[in-house]
Parts: sequence; structure tokens; C-alpha cells
Amino acid sequence: MRLGETFCRQVADADPLGADRVLAPLVALNERADRRGLVAVLAELVAAAEHAPLTGTADRLAALRDLGMPADSLRRHGVEPLAALPAAEPVLRRLGGSVGMVPRDTVLHYGAWNPSGARQRMYTGAAEENVLIHSVRVGAPAVERAVLALAPLPGLDPAAPEYAAALTGARTQLAPLIEAIGAVAAQVPPAAFFTARLRPYMQEIRVGGRAYCGPAAAHLPLHLVDQLLWAGDRTDPVHQQLRAELLEYGLPEWRRLHRAREGRESVVSALVRALRAAGEQVPAALLRSAGAAAELLRTLVVFRGRHLRLVREGYAGDGPFRAGSAGAAPAVVRHLLDLTRERERRLVGPLSAAGGPRR
Ligand code: HEM
Repeated sequence: MRLGETFCRQVADADPLGADRVLAPLVALNERADRRGLVAVLAELVAAAEHAPLTGTADRLAALRDLGMPADSLRRHGVEPLAALPAAEPVLRRLGGSVGMVPRDTVLHYGAWNPSGARQRMYTGAAEENVLIHSVRVGAPAVERAVLALAPLPGLDPAAPEYAAALTGARTQLAPLIEAIGAVAAQVPPAAFFTARLRPYMQEIRVGGRAYCGPAAAHLPLHLVDQLLWAGDRTDPVHQQLRAELLEYGLPEWRRLHRAREGRESVVSALVRALRAAGEQVPAALLRSAGAAAELLRTLVVFRGRHLRLVREGYAGDGPFRAGSAGAAPAVVRHLLDLTRERERRLVGPLSAAGGPRR
């Protein structure tokens, strides 16, 4: 399973539970906090899931997406959804298990696999929600493509021409994420809209005796870009724990890639080692690779710098939420930006000394 365009469209197009009709009143039910109506919607979709064949992956993911909308809405209005409707539990567990994912909806269901236009699943129906859904719809596949560009690097010679090309490719792939964070910054007030109105729909729900986090953009696989580029051979405990937590809410393929690469020399370490070993005569191809890695790190720093402003604004007040929907506090987001900057400096030092581009 990958976030390729065709596959995402297949899931977005799928409506195996007839949820286009059943979810039509969702925004209105949320507006008047109609808990009884929300339980009825969830019950109708659960009954449909019990009888639908749901044989293909696209149908199963679409079913999880659509069951998630009323379940998350109930949680927002103070009702633990599976306590209100225990029949939902086996359905969610079966569906999650059958696709190798957690037994609930994630940000991929809400963004990458959410149909656009009139069929778009929304909690509030607000224009700002549309901007946030869109940011994940374009951002998640972009980040996955960047990961795939970087994935072969741990086995390659940093002075090989493909090395610089892969790094430049990964940076190009991340461009939609940078655009998306810019659009969110321009159009979504973090405190007044995100934290006050949308964040309450993205809470933990209990399934099978444990709590699972709600949809969170933090579950985009940027942590895999970090792993391959600079973090897989580092042991910062806060970052390691965050990466482990985020990984659980992604695709099974991402977990496999993570396992295969964890502990292996990262791109930054390989480049610093190669630059030092080259002494006075640094090959031009190695300089190009190091320059491309520095540019990619800069792109991450730019994203994280813009994002941190949203996080700070969103979580500045004394509202009910002290952490994001993935469970991490704003201080962790700041820490991650600091670590990325520190790795950028670690590479740019020897790169400049070797005659590479100064910044
Ligand atoms: C008002 C808007 C936003 C706020 C208040 C916000 C808040 C947060 C918070 C509190 C975290 C910590 C993890 C957690 O969720 O528990 C986080 C992490 C993260 N968020 Fe956001 N976020 C916003 C928008 C976005 C958007 C639009 C994207 C991408 C499309 C995004 C991508 C990420 C990523 C990738 C992380 C993981 C940390 C990192 O890699 O730096 N966020 N966000």
C-alpha cells in the first residue's frame, strides 16, 4: 500500500457503506451537538459494514474513514463512541487489522483518502477545515514520495552522482508540503479555528481496551525523511520516542522501511564522514551531494519554522488541550526544529570548509 495518486483516488471514490447519504447530515448534527443523531449515524454505518463484502483494501480504508467521522464527532461532544455503540468495536478491529493499520481512522483517511468536492467528509463544513484537509491530501503523498527518493541512499556511495540526484529529488517532492503549510498559515487562524473548533474532533478514542490517537498531521511520514536523512543513527530519546509513536499510525510499508533502516548510517553522517576523509581534494560529486543534503535540511527547517509558529499560536492559551492530537506537546515540536538545525550546522561546517556553497 502506497499513497500513489491512483490508489488515493480509488479510496476517495469508494463508498462501500453508502456513507455519502448517511453522513450528509453530519455537519448539522455536530452544530447542534445531537448525540442521539450521531449514535444513529454510527449505528447505521456499523450495520452496513457488518453486511458489506469489503473485500478490497480501498473499500476497507474507505469504510474506516466513514466510520471515523461519526465516532470522532461523538467524542467531540463528550461521548466515548464504543461505549455508546459496542457493536462498532469488532468492526473497527477487523477493518484495522485487515489493512495492517490501527483500528480507527487516521489523518490519511481524513486527508489523503477523503474525496474532494461535494462528497468531502467534514466535521464542521468550514472553509478553514477544507484548507486543512487539502494540506494533508497533497502533503502526505508528497512526503511519502520524498521518503521513497531517499530510501536507496544508505547503500550508496555519497560521491556517486545518483546520491545528489536523489537528495535533490526528495527536496523537489517536498515542495507541496511547504506550499501547504503556507496556505494554512494564510487561511487558518490556529487558536480561533484549529484549536477551538477542529482539534476537539481529533481526540483519542478507546478501542479494545486501549486509547488510540485521533487524526494528526504529525502522522505524515516526515519522521521517515528524518530517519534516513539525519536521525536513524542518533539516539535523542525524545525524538526516538516520538518517531516510534508516530510510526504506529502510518502504513505497514512505512513501518517495514523504518525497521530495515533504523540504526544504519544516516545521509548526514555518511556525508560528514566522506567530506572529512577526502581531506584537501573533495570530489565535485561529493560536494554536490553534501550541497543537496544541506538544501534538503534547509527545506525541513523552513517547514518546521513556519509550522512552529502555528503550533505556538494554537496552543498558547489555557484551553483544554496541552498537546497535539498525536499526543506531543509544543515543546517537542520546538525540540525537533532545534535538532534539525543542529544537524544542518553539522553538515554545513565541513561542507563550507571543503569549498562547498556557503550560507
Ligand atoms: C493550525 C495548524 C497546526 C497546528 C496548531 C499544529 C500543531 C501540531 C502539534 C501540537 C504537533 C505535535 C504532535 C501532535 O500532534 O501531538 C504537530 C506536529 C506535526 N505537524 Fe502540525 N499543526 C498544524 C498544522 C499542520 C499542517 C498543515 C501540517 C502538514 C500538512 C502539519 C504537520 C505536522 C508534522 C509533520 C508534525 C510532526 C512534527 C514534525 O515533523 O516537525 N501540521 N503539529
